[in-house]
Amino acid sequence: MDSSAIRDAFFSFFEGRGHVRLPSAPLVLKDDPSVLFTSAGMQPLVPYFTGRKQPPAKRIVTVQKVLRTSDIDEVGHDGYHQTFWEMLGNFSIGDYWKSESLQWSWELLTGPFGFDGDRLVATVHTSDDEAYDIWTRQIKLPPHRVFRLGDAANFWTPGPTGLCGPDSEIFIDTGPQPGVPPHACDPSESCGRYVEIWNNVFQQYDRQADGRLVPLSKKNIDTGAGLERITQVLEGVPGDTFRTDLFRPIVEKIEQLAHVAYGGGEADRSIRIVAEHSRAATFLIADGIDPSNEGRGYVLRRLIRRAALHARKLGLQTGSIPQLGLVSVRVMQGHYHELATHRERIVQTLENEEHKFEQTLSSGLDQLNGAIGAARSAGRGGIDGDTAFRLYDTFGFPVEMTRELAGAAGLRVDEGRYRDLLEEQRARSRASAKFSQDAMRFGQFYEHLREREGVRSVFTGYDELGSEGTILWLASTGTSVEEAREGSEVEIVLDRTPFYAEGGGQVGDRGHITTSEGRAMVADTQTPAPDVTVMIGTVVDGVLRVGARAHAEVDAALRRATMRNHTGTHLLHAALRRVLGEEVHQAGSLVHAPNLRFDFTLGRAPTRDELRRVEDEVNAAILANADVHADLVPLQDALASGAQHLFDEKYGAEVRVVQAGPTSRELCGGTHCRATGDVGLLLITKEESVGAGIRRIEAVTGEGALADVRALRERMERAAQTLRVPPERLPEAVEQLAQQRQRVEKELDAARRAGMDTSAVRLVAKAETVDGTRLVVADVGDADAEHLRALSDKVRDQLGSGVVVLGGIRGERAALAVGVTKDLTPRVNADAIVKQVAPIIGGSGGGRPQSATGGGREIARLAEALDAARGIVRDHFDGGRGSA
Ligand code: SER
Repeated sequence: MDSSAIRDAFFSFFEGRGHVRLPSAPLVLKDDPSVLFTSAGMQPLVPYFTGRKQPPAKRIVTVQKVLRTSDIDEVGHDGYHQTFWEMLGNFSIGDYWKSESLQWSWELLTGPFGFDGDRLVATVHTSDDEAYDIWTRQIKLPPHRVFRLGDAANFWTPGPTGLCGPDSEIFIDTGPQPGVPPHACDPSESCGRYVEIWNNVFQQYDRQADGRLVPLSKKNIDTGAGLERITQVLEGVPGDTFRTDLFRPIVEKIEQLAHVAYGGGEADRSIRIVAEHSRAATFLIADGIDPSNEGRGYVLRRLIRRAALHARKLGLQTGSIPQLGLVSVRVMQGHYHELATHRERIVQTLENEEHKFEQTLSSGLDQLNGAIGAARSAGRGGIDGDTAFRLYDTFGFPVEMTRELAGAAGLRVDEGRYRDLLEEQRARSRASAKFSQDAMRFGQFYEHLREREGVRSVFTGYDELGSEGTILWLASTGTSVEEAREGSEVEIVLDRTPFYAEGGGQVGDRGHITTSEGRAMVADTQTPAPDVTVMIGTVVDGVLRVGARAHAEVDAALRRATMRNHTGTHLLHAALRRVLGEEVHQAGSLVHAPNLRFDFTLGRAPTRDELRRVEDEVNAAILANADVHADLVPLQDALASGAQHLFDEKYGAEVRVVQAGPTSRELCGGTHCRATGDVGLLLITKEESVGAGIRRIEAVTGEGALADVRALRERMERAAQTLRVPPERLPEAVEQLAQQRQRVEKELDAARRAGMDTSAVRLVAKAETVDGTRLVVADVGDADAEHLRALSDKVRDQLGSGVVVLGGIRGERAALAVGVTKDLTPRVNADAIVKQVAPIIGGSGGGRPQSATGGGREIARLAEALDAARGIVRDHFDGGRGSA
């Protein structure tokens, strides 16, 4: 079984036992700003466990992408440690309990996964007789293979506080005689004999900040099994995740680029670090993180820079990290569509960050090596904190890297002092920081508002574009305010609002909010916390106060155009699936007023004919003018009815299903036309590839389509006027023109060649002779490098044995070409001459030993450059000293 088969088998095993499959949540949870990254399968489900949100089902199964940073320094030392991995999990929300959970883990492992039951051992908490009995009596594991351990090993909490409880872990026993006592060690010790594969947490408490364990009224099951661990075993490469199909293509790419082999060599550690970190970084970028010096962005920066450092150690060129990112995209995009959607951004971000790092690395390395040398010769045991801080601050050198490199030289780093300096600097920048719309703080602010103040807004915008409401909250320059005056930027929360907040690919609404005392212009609408709609804009008149009655009016023209594009997107999606097949899945979309953009999966380019059929289908649906309506239905029913949905969206228990005509049915929270006819006309304006297996279509509807057709007509009319033909004769006229042009070009070419032949003859006639060798050096006037090359090649071929150096100027550029006959190349080399003299004209160049060209902007120094070239050639022959 490969990793895909394992994911599938896991899903179908638990779906067969009443579980509903949910897609993986992003690595950054919008609803939970308290955690840096999703680090367990249970985290996205916390609102369901606590009862804050209604779960779509009581039994849930997921394969969740997770990132844990605690072990980052361990990555590379062995084949196990990773920062990014995938967690297989089944969850019971107040439903089944220990017996089913343990029994199913066992059945799946020894059944579909085919593990040897004799190689499995389990641990339970010392106090947990119930779990012990399930293992020994129900599953009939021999008692000596069930270990009873304490809190450290068998009590699981996500952090200092949160949902927790005793757990039971399942391990593979890799000992020489599996399962035979006496055991050299127990699974909680790191003797290497036991490998953990699955954890069953019996979640029954909520740990408070003061350490109290508050029992939950409903108990939950949270399990987590490492996909990579299971894949290692089932692919027969236990202990080495880098040999599984998840990593093999990445490792192979590194082997190929660096000319090294993975396995048992000195390069292994660096290969693993580069492979693991480039993959983790790829996922972080796809989930919207940018490298920075703070928080999540810093983790990303560290991953990329550590990968780049080890890439350099392996001798990889700059640019290798983005290439490896692309391999990760290819390997994983089938399961994580966001990778394909954000492919360009991934490459761009990796490229930029690697480049930035390259720039600072060399200067930083010099500094660090200097510091290491100084510390050693002074007999000091370490690098001081000031140096470490300066390296970080000025050269962007992460302290972990300083630690790693200093450590390799046997030195320690004073990290206490480093941290003090860092804190001082952060305090300074905090003090001067202006209002930042930093997404995390923005989210946190409104999440707290929601929790503490119970702030909620009702969305009225499905039915109307203007609504009356009350201002519940105002915030300006980062803090809550009671009023906001003319000129100030403001965030407004109303109890009822028709403004649609950005989501599901549709942009946030714009418009105006008016009270009896003032007016604000809204430029964007966001929903930073569930049911909290925030309108972001500027007070343009008077003053806005909390508590005031307000009229909120969406910019109708923009919104109607956006709705046309949204309904158009649904019709397009349905048509694509009908024409191109079920292989088509949405991979992303952008819906705004000017046009729509739709990304979808397809392993080939659609033909022109197919695209025309798609366009026809959409427009037939528009002309049918069918009803568009939305219903709220339970998630399971919606999925069962085949409604289209996105994998990386989290849905609640009830979902909105939009039906547009008979063929289109999608889960969607967006705003739509009332009938398909409102879309007007849909025209595909562009189709292109945006990555392996992903295509992008851009289209216009309504006024956009009209404008598009009109612009096309005007362009045609203009061209027709220029050619003095009626517009309908334009194609023939252009064809004729093209033929004519080809003819003229041919003639011109022949004339040029004839001209060149004459010039070549003339130049050869002027050749001087130096020590028996013929030398031509000349400024031929108006010429570019291409022209010069052709001419110098001709001259060279007529010289028999000799050297030709030509210069010319075209526009603002000077150019050079050098030719050397073959017999002389052991002594003079055209490439070397150009490299030596091109800098004189402020440029560069090169080529092959017999022919090379160069160019630069300092046209006034061309004569000087030609003299220098002449000098070089003469030196060789006059003095007969070696080669250039
Ligand atoms: N939450 C538990 C863990 O992370 C089981 O899923 O190990």
